Amino acid sequence: MMKQVAIILLAGTALLTGSSVTAQDGEKLFRKCKACHAVTTEKNGIGPTLKGVYDRPAASVEGYKYSKAMQTAGFNWDDANLDKFLEKPRAHVKGTKMAFPGVRKPNERRALIAYLKSVSE
Ligand code: HEC
Repeated sequence: MMKQVAIILLAGTALLTGSSVTAQDGEKLFRKCKACHAVTTEKNGIGPTLKGVYDRPAASVEGYKYSKAMQTAGFNWDDANLDKFLEKPRAHVKGTKMAFPGVRKPNERRALIAYLKSVSE
């Protein structure tokens, strides 16, 4: 399982270098997230489904057992919060149980956010 995640992470890196990003770029990058998150269905995996996540309050998928940290985060998943969380999950939501190091490149985060937005409309 961890090996699989590592391969997925590698496949997603170095995909984007330009500054204009699209939801399609984000869809490709979402491979990094797929081991734990569904996004087109309501099904929860290791992580909660991200279907409709854009602009919804943190920790609001019913039936998913969030960490205490996420339950008390107290914000909506807007661009700014998604950007900070995806850059360094554990720094933005201290104590989160999302075991993911983060996405270093701002372009890649923007593409991912565009994708999450596009599947939330
Ligand atoms: C190794 C598994 C794993 C990977 C990979 C992963 N996540 Fe997560 N994610 C989680 C878990 C577990 C949670 C719940 C965190 C908590 O309760 O503290 C979570 C929570 C989230 C949330 C908050 C959802 C909510 O309903 O409040 C967002 C947004 C999110 N992840 C986005 C992503 C994105 C985008 C990626 C890919 C770049 C990603 N995650 C990669 C496991 C993962």
